[in-house]
Amino acid sequence: MATAPVRTRKDVYKLSATDKTLEWYAKAVAEMQKLPITDPRSWRYQAAIHGYLRSMDPYAKQGEPMPTQQEQAKFWNQCQHSSWFFLSWHRGYLLWFERICLGHIVRLGGPSDWALPYWNYSRAPATVRMLPPAFRPQSVGGKPNPLFVAGRTGGTSGNVGLDPVEVSVDCLKRANFVGTSSGGSPGFGGPQTGFNHGGGPVGACERTPHGDVHVAVGGLMGAFETAGLDPIFWLHHCNIDRLWEVWRKRSGSTGDPTSTNWKNLAFSIHDQNGAVITFKSADMVSTTANGYKYDDISDPFAVSGASVLASVERPGMTEGEAKPAKAAELAGATDEGVPLGQERSSTRVAIAGQARSVLASAAKKRVFLNIENITGDAPSGNYSVYVNVPEGAEPAEHPDHFAGTIPLFGLNVASSEEASHGGSGLTHVLEITDLVRRLQREGTWNEADVDVDFVPLRPVPEGAGVRIGRVSVYHA
Ligand code: C2O
Repeated sequence: MATAPVRTRKDVYKLSATDKTLEWYAKAVAEMQKLPITDPRSWRYQAAIHGYLRSMDPYAKQGEPMPTQQEQAKFWNQCQHSSWFFLSWHRGYLLWFERICLGHIVRLGGPSDWALPYWNYSRAPATVRMLPPAFRPQSVGGKPNPLFVAGRTGGTSGNVGLDPVEVSVDCLKRANFVGTSSGGSPGFGGPQTGFNHGGGPVGACERTPHGDVHVAVGGLMGAFETAGLDPIFWLHHCNIDRLWEVWRKRSGSTGDPTSTNWKNLAFSIHDQNGAVITFKSADMVSTTANGYKYDDISDPFAVSGASVLASVERPGMTEGEAKPAKAAELAGATDEGVPLGQERSSTRVAIAGQARSVLASAAKKRVFLNIENITGDAPSGNYSVYVNVPEGAEPAEHPDHFAGTIPLFGLNVASSEEASHGGSGLTHVLEITDLVRRLQREGTWNEADVDVDFVPLRPVPEGAGVRIGRVSVYHA
């Protein structure tokens, strides 16, 4: 193949009025939707690569031909979550999807330099947190709009109600790609795992904004098994893929994992010709080698950046290139689980005797709140986590006690023992170092215990039986 030009993925909200990128995307989606699910280049097959469950398939028709069980086992339900393969696997997934779209577009007479746009919901102005306009109407010019799907939050208004905390890009401040599974930093890219994984912590970027945006858009986007059926999924992942580039550029001395366990695990997928290929994380580290780049990978913290970065990953606290984050020690944990429902729920973590002085005195210690083994029947939901809100006060009135969100995207899969994703549920790790230090300076830190509140941001449905297994505090 002659060397193709490097295609540029652009900000969907900055496309000019005459730009045809989304029109061609809509045409490609419509083409793919005409193909049967047995065709690897069909819309439904592409979504099934991420996740598939017949009972959740909105397009299932009785008696329709399906790929063989063997084929499904090899190519479907492949998505890598709670894993250091999250970024590289989704990059490959997106890449061949984009090439399949491009194939249809070129066949229809469209531009050979077409690229997927990305949805950057994390920048100003706030209106970019609305679903991009082209995805909102049910029909365009009297015909069904291929970019529309029913069931999203806010319906055709596009108002998915994204809160600034749900699109925070604080994940970019993680110095290390690889997280620890022992209660400390989850890393930018997640903890070391095997294929598919289960139960370990969710990486910082995978948690927020990634998981939050899935849960916020809702509908098909709110579950592993259906997310790829919403055309906005691909623009969301394009942005997540871009954040990897932003992180790589701003993280300087640190970088992607150097371990062969990360580099060489092979994933199978179909290419734009329908041929089976494999790709490895090592093949995914360069965008330009894969024929694309982003129009903007500037550092969103560039203006006030230096001090922001220093406060979270202080010099001397950086674990060094490509090493897993430092193992952490348990300071205290709850004896019992915590239910998550329609109302606020609360718990108290007792801090063990020796750990009290460690937390109170060691200025260089980092402190992590672990929300462990969340299980339940719902595919998603989201809760805001607050620490040490004053007795009798409303957490919402104390944003200075806010620790982060815990998006429950994929909760049902992570909770199912039959699923490839585990059975031990979701674990989120929130760094609360700055919060603890501030409370200590203010003299309101109670060394004997830590109060934790979970406030529904997007509550799980009634009766979903969602429970946190344990809440714990670690220091590293
Ligand atoms: Cu595999 Cu955004 O999900």
